[in-house]
Amino acid sequence: MKDTMRKRVLVATGGGDCPGLNAVIRAIVLRASQERDWEVVGSINAFDGVLNEPNEVVVLGEKEVAGVHIRGGTIIGTTSKGGPFAWPIKNPDGTWGSADRSDEMLRRLQYLGVDAVINIGGDGSQQISQKLFEKGCNIIGVPKTIDNDLSATDFTFGFQTAVQEATTAVDKLVTTAASHNRVFILEVMGRYAGWIGLHSAVAGGAHACLIPEIPYDIEKVMEKIYSRFHRGRGYAIIVIAEGAKPKGGEIHYEESKEVGYKNIRLGGVAFKLMDELKKAGLETDMRETVLGHLQRGGTPIAYDRILATQFGVEAFEMVLRQEYGKMVAYRHPHIVTVPFKEVLSHYNFVNPDSDLVKSARGVGICMGD
Ligand code: F6P
Repeated sequence: MKDTMRKRVLVATGGGDCPGLNAVIRAIVLRASQERDWEVVGSINAFDGVLNEPNEVVVLGEKEVAGVHIRGGTIIGTTSKGGPFAWPIKNPDGTWGSADRSDEMLRRLQYLGVDAVINIGGDGSQQISQKLFEKGCNIIGVPKTIDNDLSATDFTFGFQTAVQEATTAVDKLVTTAASHNRVFILEVMGRYAGWIGLHSAVAGGAHACLIPEIPYDIEKVMEKIYSRFHRGRGYAIIVIAEGAKPKGGEIHYEESKEVGYKNIRLGGVAFKLMDELKKAGLETDMRETVLGHLQRGGTPIAYDRILATQFGVEAFEMVLRQEYGKMVAYRHPHIVTVPFKEVLSHYNFVNPDSDLVKSARGVGICMGD
């Protein structure tokens, strides 16, 4: 039941979960609790909570968010499927189509007494934010993704936690690789960007780092591996981002069969690289590790909790300022606000000429070219 004296801000988390989501939610709630005339509600599983019948919208107070900043995942759930503009519906012949329920969603928000919406999500979610804003919704975005592929912000929360996980994996693979004189290929996430790959390769001291922005030449990777072995002894660690591709080749992916899931599923490039190395004549023992969702689950590291907290506080202050149609972002050393249109105007790729790529090369990491 709505407290009619108070205004309502609805919070939703959309797309893949990400360490730090709960810290954002907590910060929004704690900041809002300092304003007597506002209350925070959460929509369960992105905007599904608003669109489901009966709706699943819960009041979030200080009690609900106590201590959640250290927890991974999201206390209000999320989904990467459907959404107000592409709600999955089953056709009479059993196939699946989609319906635009965005007008209905706006009506439902009005019925729920929602004055403003904070949408915490990656590029897909912020596209939805922009479309809802164009329809008159008072909406604000918070950038979330382990991939760090949103261009408007220096960093997204969750990214550093994923890098820490990937770096720990490199550290662990070094000891087993060295003991067995093996080549290890570690596949990390990141979609079309090589941020997690590059950062973890530098932090972990990998010998090769293959990212989507620098298509690799298998001969160069072979050269690096050979340089690491002497009379059959040695080891090498290759970090490969899931979106990496060989020169003249394509990204390795599969279409998802899941209803309402529009993303293509990346993954398996470590196996592909191993095949390519074998075909190119590499006889050394090789093993692959696909780190997968271990990069996304679990406790956010301190950096991500801090960034998430800053984003949450600023997002609520944007609500107070009625600064809608924008996303909160971090541009060192400031927390800033950026219009959705600018946020969505380009993808955040690693610049192959950037200082970090130069540093990687400087310590002898083969970037595959
Ligand atoms: O965008 C985050 C991310 O973890 C990507 O790095 C990865 O490709 C994708 O999500 C995996 O998505 P899902 O959890 O739907 O398999």
